[in-house]
Amino acid sequence: MTTWSKSSWRSKPRIQMPDYPDQAALKAVEEQLSRYPVLVFAGEARRLRKHLAAAGRGEAFLLQGGDCAESFEQFSSDMIRDTFKVMLQMAVVLTYGAKVPVIKVGRMAGQFAKPRSANMETVDGIELPSYRGDIINDLAFTAESRIPNPENMMRAYTQSAATLNLLRAFSTGGYADVHKVHGWTLGFTDGEKAAKYRDLAARISDTLDFMAAAGVSPDNAHTLQSVEFYTSHESLLLEYEEALCRQEAETGKWLAGSGHMIWIGDRTRQPDGAHVEFASGVQNPIGLKCGPSMEVDDLKKLMTKLNPDNEEGRLTLIARFGAGSVGDHLPRLIKAVQEEGANVVWTCDAMHGNTIKSSSGYKTRPFESVLREVREFFGVHSAEGTVPGGVHFEMTGQDVTECTGGVRAVTDEDLSNRYHTACDPRLNASQSLELAFLVAEELSTRRGREAAKAAG
Ligand code: PEP
Ligand code: CO
Repeated sequence: MTTWSKSSWRSKPRIQMPDYPDQAALKAVEEQLSRYPVLVFAGEARRLRKHLAAAGRGEAFLLQGGDCAESFEQFSSDMIRDTFKVMLQMAVVLTYGAKVPVIKVGRMAGQFAKPRSANMETVDGIELPSYRGDIINDLAFTAESRIPNPENMMRAYTQSAATLNLLRAFSTGGYADVHKVHGWTLGFTDGEKAAKYRDLAARISDTLDFMAAAGVSPDNAHTLQSVEFYTSHESLLLEYEEALCRQEAETGKWLAGSGHMIWIGDRTRQPDGAHVEFASGVQNPIGLKCGPSMEVDDLKKLMTKLNPDNEEGRLTLIARFGAGSVGDHLPRLIKAVQEEGANVVWTCDAMHGNTIKSSSGYKTRPFESVLREVREFFGVHSAEGTVPGGVHFEMTGQDVTECTGGVRAVTDEDLSNRYHTACDPRLNASQSLELAFLVAEELSTRRGREAAKAAG
């Protein structure tokens, strides 16, 4: 076994990464980035790990969501604000409805690189290399656009830094003050769930009035005025990750400075591969996508490699099997975790196992399948007596029509109206809110059951 270093991944088999034609340009970008400031700090990553440890024990719940792929072209402060608002709304629904602290982690400020199922894409008889996310190449269907360009890493870094700066301001600068709970709604979220949210917001306002009258004011309860908001992305483009990887002077530990939490995708989780190697040596919380092809033996190897000291909060297993398949796979993986006595946080990505091609030709996800997978995830954990620790999903605060269904039913024909994603179809704000109500319901049913059990 070789010892880990931030570049030890280079001697392992790598997949889903570009071959840069201009190696000199790549080198120059890596050198430049390695001198730039990190985006997140070790203390923050450790704090997140502590929260995730609580989620693993059922004392907190992880809400992880955002874009499938961030985009250079669609980048704007409104876009960040709206995604942040939806996350806050969902967190309120969960905190109030399920009485559980919610850990908020955005798929933001670094979620640019995409694994693809096919290396090539064919349109009208012309074949070109696939688009791999804005940090690598461009979406436009021309030969020139699809050449991997290392300069894109600089732009992704700059956009991530600007995004994080705004998120930090939103989190602590008064915007996320719970007294503003009414203001987090978005103009177009109407319907039954929006009314339900307004009702809940009114009850929270009432409670806050009562607390103020009783002497608990924002001046002596700072946590009411701010939130902790963390960032995450798939650690796919390892040249970028390595350039932002730094050693902490006090502890000697390494940190992926590109985001608080990084995850390994379902396609790049080979136990002896480059992506697992890189993640194994950094102290950030690590996510591991587990799809239907995850073998029990591989999961065991991965848990040992990624969390050798069995630390709580270090490893989050993100189950993404697809509606109708959770019962076929989750129980065998839960059993493997139990056999190893491993500490993990189980979360449910109800998006990536539910992608289909609609009759109108668009890639979509039926909202019904998303909800169904979440229900099945909770059902299996309830049957196994294990802890459902969170949800992971792709959403946006924009009023898009990318996933079909929901209370403001999006049909196959509607998909073309506002289909803006650079990669996978995302839930819009009202679908996200609806999902949050379902999860809150599942969590409070679970609480009720646990309380009844405790009471004998
Ligand atoms: C993703 O999260 O965007 C993704 C590609 O997921 P997975 O690796 O689970 O397919
Ligand atoms: Co995706």
